[in-house]
Amino acid sequence: MRMVDIISKKKYGGVLTKEEIEFFVKGYTKGEIPDYQISALLMAIYFNKMNSEETLNLTLAMENSGDRLDLSGIKGIKVDKHSTGGVGDKTTLVLGPMVASLGVKLAKMSGRGLGHTGGTIDKLESFPGFSTSLSEEQFIKNVNDIGMAVTGQTGNLAPADKKLYALRDVTATVDNISLIASSIMSKKLASGADAIVLDVKCGSGAFMKNEEDAVILATEMVNIGKGAGRKTAAIISGMDEPLGYAIGNGLEVVEAINTLKGKGPKDLLELCVTLGSYMIVAAGVSDNIENADKMLRKTIEDGSAFDKFVEFIEAQGGNRNDCINPDNLIKVEKIIPVLSDMDGYISYIKSDDVGMASMMLGGGRKTKEDVIDLNVGIMLSKKVGDKVSKGDVLAFIYANSSSDIDNAKIKLLDAYAFSDDKPEIKPLIKRVIS
Ligand code: URA
Repeated sequence: MRMVDIISKKKYGGVLTKEEIEFFVKGYTKGEIPDYQISALLMAIYFNKMNSEETLNLTLAMENSGDRLDLSGIKGIKVDKHSTGGVGDKTTLVLGPMVASLGVKLAKMSGRGLGHTGGTIDKLESFPGFSTSLSEEQFIKNVNDIGMAVTGQTGNLAPADKKLYALRDVTATVDNISLIASSIMSKKLASGADAIVLDVKCGSGAFMKNEEDAVILATEMVNIGKGAGRKTAAIISGMDEPLGYAIGNGLEVVEAINTLKGKGPKDLLELCVTLGSYMIVAAGVSDNIENADKMLRKTIEDGSAFDKFVEFIEAQGGNRNDCINPDNLIKVEKIIPVLSDMDGYISYIKSDDVGMASMMLGGGRKTKEDVIDLNVGIMLSKKVGDKVSKGDVLAFIYANSSSDIDNAKIKLLDAYAFSDDKPEIKPLIKRVIS
């Protein structure tokens, strides 16, 4: 087989065979095929696309390119959840304990974030003493003992995706549905869960800016998951304003804890209950979504989800008192109110501007090497649909000395749009693909 023939076939819109896909994925991972040939192929794929079978074969070839997490030591059905990323997204911290308190096993390998705020791993590091690098043995033990564990990436999962993603990044070939879907799903499949629930976000603060594209991506990922023999469902959720009120690592942890205590924002709880319902149905804990919804809400009302969260934090080295009094986790030099200069209803809060403002305060990373400040961020006081008068507080900026407060404030104010009439509130959950 010759790489030049594979490039040529795709250039003319041909369908690549499983063998051809395995050939280039293996060859590139081993360093036997040069970047320039894979770049040419990626551009041909970008223009001529891949069908569902090619996309599944690409995913499986990337999954098989490295280690696979062996979860066979965990009893019961293992369920994983993945979000395509948004602003203020702290769902794993709420959802994990909710489903684990109902007996679902959540063995989650999570990443650090690039962009607006950190990933789940960064957020959890707000707890002094919390370990985000468990040995595989400890990870499995914690999931068996308490039902959940979250650890940073270990092993060499889907190394082909790592190399290909880096090349796509510098050859303008990231935004192709087959390449995105196979990239995400190769890592999910290698992480070993039996069932996968995907939160595919759409809107200004998301990878997919509109619902149509989000549906196409979600459908492709669900097809891959099912094609690989895993139960898979995707929720399309809106990111037209940040999720909840808190944006920034430590602030998001505090909001997640408040939600577990029954005092959280409605949108965050709704998303967690929806994602959680599909997780517990996939795990066989409930046989229908309506009943699953009730069971999950009860875990908040009776305190079992919060108790599970405390158990999880303690099992990974954190302190129970920090869960009981989470405000102590945030240490900032200044809390600055941001005031409205308009009268009217808030009609829009552009999520990516809010995310950028949080990043300017030091809460996000531009490059992998950046160190983030877990304390800084933004607490919104109002959401879309709320009425404000000139001089009302729209949000509070939590800042430290290295924060670029002036520019963050400008960016944050840019995020808001106002209207004279009460705007229509768009549903958070747009579609379910299963
Ligand atoms: N996230 C990934 O892991 N891969 C992509 O291609 C895009 C987003």
